[in-house]
Amino acid sequence: MNLAGKKIVLGLTGGIACYKAAEFARALVKAGASVQVVMTEAARHFITPVTMQALSGHTVFTDQWDNRVSNNMAHIDLSRDADAIIIAPCSADFMRKLVHGAADDLLSTLCLARPHAVPLLVAPAMNVEMWDKPATQRNVAQLKSDGITLLGPASGDQACGETGLGRMLEPEQLLEALTGFFQPKLLSGKRVLITAGPTFEPIDPVRGVTNLSSGKMGYALARAAHAAGAHVTLVSGPTALAVPLGVTCIPVMTAREMHEAVMSHIGEQSVLIAVAAVADWRVAEVSTQKIKKQAGATPSLQFETNPDILASVAALPSPPFCVGFAAESDDLLAHGAAKRERKNIPLLVGNIGHQTFGKDDNEIVLFDANGHQALPRASKDKLAVTLIAEIARRL
Ligand code: CTP
Repeated sequence: MNLAGKKIVLGLTGGIACYKAAEFARALVKAGASVQVVMTEAARHFITPVTMQALSGHTVFTDQWDNRVSNNMAHIDLSRDADAIIIAPCSADFMRKLVHGAADDLLSTLCLARPHAVPLLVAPAMNVEMWDKPATQRNVAQLKSDGITLLGPASGDQACGETGLGRMLEPEQLLEALTGFFQPKLLSGKRVLITAGPTFEPIDPVRGVTNLSSGKMGYALARAAHAAGAHVTLVSGPTALAVPLGVTCIPVMTAREMHEAVMSHIGEQSVLIAVAAVADWRVAEVSTQKIKKQAGATPSLQFETNPDILASVAALPSPPFCVGFAAESDDLLAHGAAKRERKNIPLLVGNIGHQTFGKDDNEIVLFDANGHQALPRASKDKLAVTLIAEIARRL
């Protein structure tokens, strides 16, 4: 994820989730951002400015009356050249302050003094009961209507021992959300369905036929499409990946389940991106019990053909914009062009299969009616952003 050249003010308020803010600051710096940390007094009860200074590489500001700022205008200076202010963790009390325009400490004052063009994002973190209270929910609604972006909270185990909504998002989720925030909204209002990962075709209750697809490219596209403003549905075979924030995931195992999930949601979609490595065949007779070894004998499997999901969608009377993927082992240019025409789709992304499965980067070639265009090797995240822009341009 890339935040090169972005100036981020990271505000910390009082909450145990401050320990995650340390990791978040580190991730921001690693992504290329320049990070200016501002902490409230309550935040300093949970983590020290020394830690945040070491991780951000900049002096931490905590005090409205800090005499290191020559004109005593830290609240103005810090917000003027920021690309975004993000409060993580944002306590229930600090949300109240933002709602009421409080200016009684450095962080609340600089939020109030920020120019209109500087976006404010908050990542709430609090106990589930505090989050659920009507007072907090009124503040949430007011913050949203004031144009402040809320990131989370997530649901789960809390530091206090209770369970429910109120956990701050994980540092990598915050980074993903912030990176997405800066992406141009090229697919605003569009619905995009993405198939990803392998399928798993069972042989018996403990065995099956699958492939080496990791799902990384499909998940990267889901993230990039969401960041571009689309409503994204991800139909995913079994992977080890976390569902991107804001994306609806329908988990499936077999090609037939994937086909059914896609066909029941395709009516409302503007775009289908078929990234999944769908098994072309399934085992004809799946044993209901584990097949036992028998001395001297080896089982033989009969296969049946699976439905071609992409071809089924492309054959609809008014199909969405269809993008296919082709994993070839040789002669990519000839196979890719032929496959695009055979599948009757406007755009096909070709790559060399064994060079991409499981990897974090890839080299791809785009095939459309005008010919082909090779994109230089890049991370799957970067390629996904480029591909989404190419799709948006063609829509
Ligand atoms: N696809 C699909 N349903 C299938 C098979 C493939 O939706 N049952 C999609 C894939 O998600 C991908 C494209 O079709 O977008 C790949 O096309 P395909 O012809 O299956 O490619 P290969 O498996 O590479 O085909 P071949 O073995 O003929 O090279």
